[in-house]
This record gives sequence, structure tokens and C-alpha cells, in this order.
Amino acid sequence: MRVVCFNWKMNGDLPLLEQYSALDFTAVKPIVFPPSTLISQARAMLPEFWAVGGQACHANEAGAHTGCISASMLSSAGASYVLIGHSERRVYESTEFISKSYASAESAGLQPILCVGETLEQRANVHEVLSQQLEFLSCSSSPDLWIAYEPRWAIGTGLTPEISEVAELFSWLRVKINEISPRQDGKILLLYGGSLSAANIQQFLEVKDIDGGLIGGASLKIDQTRDMLKC
Ligand code: PGA
Repeated sequence: MRVVCFNWKMNGDLPLLEQYSALDFTAVKPIVFPPSTLISQARAMLPEFWAVGGQACHANEAGAHTGCISASMLSSAGASYVLIGHSERRVYESTEFISKSYASAESAGLQPILCVGETLEQRANVHEVLSQQLEFLSCSSSPDLWIAYEPRWAIGTGLTPEISEVAELFSWLRVKINEISPRQDGKILLLYGGSLSAANIQQFLEVKDIDGGLIGGASLKIDQTRDMLKC
């Protein structure tokens, strides 16, 4: 089953949640990532086929970290997933912090979704950049690995890579992740993100190694969301 993740970023409100709650059941697995303040309301208002996730969590379980939220707090609010290392956060987060928040999500029983991707300047070395971002997964303890590949230059820009390029990159990613952290029984789920919309998502989801999409801007438009749930 394909997965579609809707990342509201620092947007969204109760009226948008109400619109989401009226959407019909679909063949895809939908996950919404509202701001933390709306997680418990999202869990209470959305039908069971929806999963709810947090957009980030701190590396520590508790402590003097003003303005931050821990993985267990997300979990007790009703989240079952969390995005880790989203490119809009990598500006403030070190690789060490990212790997620790990933581990902290696992300990709290959340399914982390590790976001990786290269900047425009790094494009020529994309394999090297991604390998470094994925390296710590060798210590992952969760049965399933969820990775979202989002070229940074495609996020919020309306630009997307060529499908042939993406297909090649995803088959490389699957092999690479299997090398770094082979799964015995679990699955490796690979998501594409970066300027997805109702108009282009289908062609990405048709790529053999793509298991789903991570959608930002378009998730704030209910008509787009409705159409993407049908893909
Ligand atoms: P976008 O964002 O769909 O607005 O490009 C994707 C993301 O940041 O996850």
C-alpha cells in the first residue's frame, strides 16, 4: 500500500483539521503531521485510517530545552510517527542530534521517518551526501526503516527532478540502505518529497522503488489533499 504523508509545517488550524476529518477513506495509507499543538486534536478528530505524526522531536527524553518537544510527549499526544532531520531543520540540527533524536523516537515507540536530501550545490555528489546522512542507521533498532528522500532544491520551489533520475536514485537508495542496515523481517519504505502535488504525484508513485510521498505546501489545500488520497 502506498503511503502519503502530509506535512503541514508551521501552518494549519482547527478548520483545516475539520476539513481533513471529512475526507473519504482511501486505498493509500495517509499520515498527517500537524504542528504539535494540534496532534491530540488530530488524533481525536480524524477517522482511524489516518495516522498522526510529529514534525520533529528532541534528542533527549526530558530536560531544560525550552521550546522543544520529546518523542514520548508526541507519543502521549497521539502521534505514532515522527519526521527526523527534515531539511528545514538540518540548518539547526547536527548529525549527532539527528541520530540521537532518531534513537529517542525509537525508544518512545514512534516510527521515525528519516528525511535526507542534497542541496543544489551538492547535487554532483548526491550519493556521497546521502551515504553520510544515512550512515547512523546501522544502529537502528526498529524493524522497519522509513526514509524520505527530498532534494532540498525541490522543497517548496515547484521544481522536481526528472522521473528517470529519481528512479535511478531510488534503486541506488534501496541497495545502499540494505547495505547499511539490512532488515531481517522488517521493511524498507522509501518516500519521495519535494514539490509534490495532485498533478504530479502519480508519476512519482509509479516508480518501482517509491513507496509513497511526503507532501508539504499542497497539503494545506483540501482539494489537492483529496485528490492525492485517490492516487
Ligand atoms: P513541499 O515540501 O511539498 O512544499 O515541497 C515537502 C517537504 O518539505 O516535506
